[in-house]
Amino acid sequence: PTPRRHEAENATYTAGSTVDSNHTGFSGTGFVNTPNAVGTYVEWTVTATTAGAAALALGYANGTTTDRPMDLTVNGTTVATGVPFPATGAWTTWRTVTVPAALLAGTNTVRATATTANGAPNLDYLDG
Ligand code: GCU
Repeated sequence: PTPRRHEAENATYTAGSTVDSNHTGFSGTGFVNTPNAVGTYVEWTVTATTAGAAALALGYANGTTTDRPMDLTVNGTTVATGVPFPATGAWTTWRTVTVPAALLAGTNTVRATATTANGAPNLDYLDG
């Protein structure tokens, strides 16, 4: 099925996160800036019309020179660990990281969780 865009600013996220718009080039009305800590997350609700394989594309920016890896869960099950979110060169340069995952028909919960003390990159959207 055609992926649909789910803006991070409409998702749920770690307390203390902010929805920012100071770095241009994002989709929607902003992006989520989570605290720089292990375990910070953004969680999206993704509704699939049919069950099956999906490519979950996460839009992000990482203006540092250090990777900000994340684990991905779908409906509470880990589907990928330590997925790299490498430097994009600037906070205004946005790229996508795509993770394959099986979705259920209906409502799915997709959570991306930072695994290092640097936290998550700035997260813009999930297409899936
Ligand atoms: C900078 C940047 C933020 C970013 C933060 C970070 O402060 O302006 O948008 O979230 O670095 O390191 O995560």
